[in-house]
Amino acid sequence: MTYTKAWLNYQPVKDAPKSVGVVLPEMGPIAESIGQELILACEGMYGVTPVFDGTAFMAELQILFIRDQSGDFGEEGYRIEASPESINIIAGGQRGMLYGMFRVLERLRLRGRKRYTIESIPSNPFRMLDHWDNLDGSIERGYSGLSFFFRDNEMTVTQRIRDYARMVASIGINAVCINNVNVRGVAAELITERFRKPLIEVAEIFEAYGIKLYLSLNFASPKRLGGLDTSDPCDEQVRAFWKERIDDMFTNVPNFGGFVVKADSEGEPGPFAYGRTHADGANMLAEFAAPHGGIIIWRCFVYNCQQDWRDQKTDRARSGYDNFIGHDGEFAENVILQIKNGPMDFQVREPVHPLFGGMKNTNLMLEVQIAQEYTGQQRHVCYLMPMFRGILDFKTYSGAEADTVADIVSGRAYGNRNCGMVAVTNTGDDENWTGHDLAAANLYGFGRLAFDTTLSPERIAEDWIGLTFGTDPKVKENVMRILMMSWPAYEKYTSPLGIGWMIKPSVHYGPDVEGYEYDRWGTYHRANHMGIGVDRTPGGTGYTTQYPEPLASLYADPATCPEELLLFFHHMPYAHVLKSGKTIIQHIYDTHFEGAEEAAEMQKLWEELEDLVEPAAYARALARFQHQTEHAAEWRDRINTYFHRISWIEDEKGRKIYD
Ligand code: GCU
Repeated sequence: MTYTKAWLNYQPVKDAPKSVGVVLPEMGPIAESIGQELILACEGMYGVTPVFDGTAFMAELQILFIRDQSGDFGEEGYRIEASPESINIIAGGQRGMLYGMFRVLERLRLRGRKRYTIESIPSNPFRMLDHWDNLDGSIERGYSGLSFFFRDNEMTVTQRIRDYARMVASIGINAVCINNVNVRGVAAELITERFRKPLIEVAEIFEAYGIKLYLSLNFASPKRLGGLDTSDPCDEQVRAFWKERIDDMFTNVPNFGGFVVKADSEGEPGPFAYGRTHADGANMLAEFAAPHGGIIIWRCFVYNCQQDWRDQKTDRARSGYDNFIGHDGEFAENVILQIKNGPMDFQVREPVHPLFGGMKNTNLMLEVQIAQEYTGQQRHVCYLMPMFRGILDFKTYSGAEADTVADIVSGRAYGNRNCGMVAVTNTGDDENWTGHDLAAANLYGFGRLAFDTTLSPERIAEDWIGLTFGTDPKVKENVMRILMMSWPAYEKYTSPLGIGWMIKPSVHYGPDVEGYEYDRWGTYHRANHMGIGVDRTPGGTGYTTQYPEPLASLYADPATCPEELLLFFHHMPYAHVLKSGKTIIQHIYDTHFEGAEEAAEMQKLWEELEDLVEPAAYARALARFQHQTEHAAEWRDRINTYFHRISWIEDEKGRKIYD
């Protein structure tokens, strides 16, 4: 199957030099990738093949790679000194050279041959993508086709994996976990001889792009693969099983990074079954990975998914913190806890997870989801960088002088070295990689933001638009407007004021206000005739007490609680007046009408680009915009009708609400 080049689409540019010379005094797989990319880029942009020999200095444009011995740039940082005739890429290691080269190519495409100097050292040590790919080729919460790693219980090693590695290396990704965190069926065998050959091939492809390969493992493997009658992490035979497997993997798979573990979560096995803690489980694996420099990434998405909706004290939002806070400081140095951005599950709006700032003596990684499970499934456009920006900037009040989420996951706040950001990725084997062509902005954006957490969503969008669609000002203007209005619009026409859910169960797509209301997943809005929301104050579930002051008090008081989260923290009457002067019910009606109108406006903005965007991409996205407009109207009508029926309060503006 053919597929698009996404943002690595090297179109001819105006100020082409007649010759390009490259000086790259490096050997090895990454150096080879650098050379190949420069050939591809120069041929595409300039129609010339660069020379790599002694004549390089005579070329009209010279690109020089220089190894810096000072150690200032680490392995991954770089400095670019550019003029129209020559570009120096100075770095401490080949990964820095690779990232510097991609940056140079971006600048050449977006701004031409200019004089500038840039220095960049990645904000986060770990910049990771998690694939939820299953061995049969399906992708859990995948909205862009099938897996390009697996098919029919085998691995597939194709050119597409190399192109994927190039794409994600170009935005600074340095770790990729290729299989679903839910390790079912034959997936458990990825750590055995059976998948060794293709795994080595993928690991080598990744290595050439500076990416470490990770696998999700099944905690019950000692029973399932080893024939033992227990998977107790403290049992000697279980330990021997893991030691043998882990040694084998690190010894025989080059460039192997380690494991991602979803334990005691949504039915996955874990240490709880044996009366052991998460620290017991994670540290046992970490002990055997440590001699190889390996990492164990342990997820904190642990909650009771067998809840009774009648039980108003148990609160899913509390569970991550309650399960882990007591173990702060117990985890080994090569364990990283992977924490979702909010305490629920990638909703369109959630407060920041209280474990950020809560666990000061543990390595933490921020997990976000660019697979748009709850944000329109890559059929609706929803540019998530503004959301991620807000999460990174969130001040945790955890004590350090610089204590935002960005400070914590970069390691600045508490001196951690193993930490960073990870996204559940949104790629598949669709022609355009991400289903919606505009969803690629989330993949591109995540990498850029993880590399440099100071970037603005607009700046990232501007670069992505230029690299993907070219530099036509109208395209830039309209696509920028679409991207920047998309997340707020999605929030407006879906669930109001931070309450979340209200989607069709299991598929997580489309409106269903009571879909999760009487279910076992702990996802309730508790709407009745008078009001809506969950009381998470000390008088309610007490979730607010998981935050330090002043956050705990701020959230616990409806007068100071940020209004976009009001219903997450409080059960409020529909007649409550917001700062805007509107009642909650009027806010619900208004935002739903507005959000649906904005969806239609986004479609219109796209239609204006008909002759300016490549026809196939235009048509693919148009079909999705048309669906989004219709679907947003469905959301509007379902939500407004529900609240009109239940509250009996009229829309002040007398608009059409179906009864
Ligand atoms: C969500 C998602 C699941 C996934 C889980 C996880 O609940 O719906 O499909 O397995 O998150 O993060 O582990």
